[in-house]
Amino acid sequence: MNPDLLRLQPYPFQKISTLLDGITPTTKPLLSLAIGEPKHPTPQIILDALQENLAGFSNYPLTKGNNTLRESISNWLTQRFNLPQNCLDPNHHVLPVNGTREALFAFAQAVVNRENSSATILMPNPFYQIYEGAALLAGAKPVYLPCTKELGFNPDFDAVSDQTWDDCQLLYLCSPGNPTGAVVDEAQIKKLLNLAEKHDFIIASDECYSEIYFDEDKPPVGLLEVAAKVGNTNFKRCVVFHSLSKRSNAPGLRSGFVAGDATILEQFLLYRTYHGCAMSPPIQAASIAAWSDEAHVLANRDEYRVKFDAVLQILSPIMDVKKPDASFYLWAGLKQNSGKDDVSFTREIFEQQHLKVVPGSYLSRHIDGVNPGENRIRLALVATLDECIESAERISEYLKQ
Ligand SMILES: Cc1ncc(COP(=O)(O)O)c(C=O)c1O
Repeated sequence: MNPDLLRLQPYPFQKISTLLDGITPTTKPLLSLAIGEPKHPTPQIILDALQENLAGFSNYPLTKGNNTLRESISNWLTQRFNLPQNCLDPNHHVLPVNGTREALFAFAQAVVNRENSSATILMPNPFYQIYEGAALLAGAKPVYLPCTKELGFNPDFDAVSDQTWDDCQLLYLCSPGNPTGAVVDEAQIKKLLNLAEKHDFIIASDECYSEIYFDEDKPPVGLLEVAAKVGNTNFKRCVVFHSLSKRSNAPGLRSGFVAGDATILEQFLLYRTYHGCAMSPPIQAASIAAWSDEAHVLANRDEYRVKFDAVLQILSPIMDVKKPDASFYLWAGLKQNSGKDDVSFTREIFEQQHLKVVPGSYLSRHIDGVNPGENRIRLALVATLDECIESAERISEYLKQ
């Protein structure tokens, strides 16, 4: 077996199962704010397009996807991120993927040069655990950048040494962040673009929460947008990852895309030709319908806005919470006088209130004596408004005891 498999950490949900194993919860019905799985209904236009294209199952799809899909993705990116017209070539700058999870993982396998023994991949801490697994299986060293409250929940790129930047082959950005909801701003991205040029590394920007935000006048900025602004219109060293899972409430569709540097994408396509991930034709048709419609995305944001307002009203007096820049996560801190830590909170609230949450320390690594997830709880406001309110009330009841 590949010995690197032994280096993979258990997935957070596996750790939660172990933590809760054997507990007999109260008889209240189970509520969960644990998994970041959107629960709003998948829009009818997506389901209709899928249904109307079922005949496509009789064809082998191209790994590259069909032209119409790549064009609809390019049009969406151009409009959403104010890119200069015709700057994106659907043939060279865009590649559909079966959800960004597999693409984020596969990307590291394709780009890391493991002949360089100091190959390093930088990532935020806390993080989406796929980045770490991707680094380990690509033979690279993961370096974790703490995203603490003091840092606005984003990495402090100035704190990274020149040596680490030199060793860095790939930087995973996650903006808006999971679990923090923090957005990396334009000034920071400009800084990263300079660093990437100076130290020759690739930026993989995971932007799968970019469409869930609260201020319609301030959508989260994206890597390609900033690259184009500074004149990097061929997106050298820049690759973004977008998904229909959160934007369009279609996590089971397994549809997303990778876009950016054509030279890198050409190599990634070569890798994927072997890796075997081609999107099935009915899913491509459904994805075209999704990327071509914005009305359902607006309606989706409206639903999250109402849920955040309601939940924040209940939790603000008892937890360290504030509305995130974007995403559907509340990265809630336990107040010092609560006498709880994130793991005991998770266990006790399951037992006493039958509510599932994610302890922050399961989403982050303990580095240099600090675990930036410690004493924080990730709450995914994905359930219905009533369930989110009921969950917040259960937290309140539990903490007030
Ligand atoms: C930060 C982040 N990136 C990527 C993904 C993967 O999403 P998908 O594979 O559904 O596109 C997730 C899913 O939860 C996520 O939280």
